[in-house]
Amino acid sequence: STVMAEEAKKLAACAAVDNHIQNNQVVGVGSGSTIVYAVDRLAERVRQEKLNIVCVPTSFQARQLILQHGLSLSDLDRHPDLDVAIDGADEVDDSLTLIKGGGGCLTQEKIVAGCAKHFIVIADYRKDSKVLGQQWKKGVPVEVVPMAYVPVSRAITRRFGGEAVLRMAVSKAGPVVTDNSNFILDWKFEQAQNWKEVNTAVKMIPGVVETGLFVGMAEKVYFGMEDGSV
Ligand code: A5P
Repeated sequence: STVMAEEAKKLAACAAVDNHIQNNQVVGVGSGSTIVYAVDRLAERVRQEKLNIVCVPTSFQARQLILQHGLSLSDLDRHPDLDVAIDGADEVDDSLTLIKGGGGCLTQEKIVAGCAKHFIVIADYRKDSKVLGQQWKKGVPVEVVPMAYVPVSRAITRRFGGEAVLRMAVSKAGPVVTDNSNFILDWKFEQAQNWKEVNTAVKMIPGVVETGLFVGMAEKVYFGMEDGSV
């Protein structure tokens, strides 16, 4: 039988939590809709197995999830060395390069993932792609300091083509404001690129805080598949 995307997210999340979380670990908690299933499963295991787990959030949403589940909340000041970080992704290519930031939390997600010994990604089958841009048509999110969004947008498109548009809020007039009080540009690129080079070049533009390209960071990706396998 074929499983729906939500069920596939849950299967991937549970597999990752069961395979990678052990007692006495410090765990990075990602953002988005898939991570919700991972935190559900983590909380269940902490209760049942009486695990001692400390969680470091990647966003306001992750912090709320940790607190709502009664898990122990920490931060990088107290726990800068994470055993494992688990997070979702918008798209994953053949070499495990990711696009992240559909939910606008890319900067803290990349910081936390970079502090973890193991960075594990969870996603449903729709995120699986040979080449970035096949599945996720919304482009690469780039977090920018607000006053720089026009020059950054121009610098990106002059060098790499496509267009970089300011992400607008849905239930408020005006731009999306990130957890770090910045704006998001969604860069709709036209063709496949050397993502490592693009990531480095875009990060060098004054005003860029972070890009949603995660190159060489993910160690393993769990995909929940349509046939119910992971
Ligand atoms: C948040 O900014 C994103 O990086 C999410 O991790 C990513 O968009 C995956 O979200 P879903 O699990 O909702 O697909």
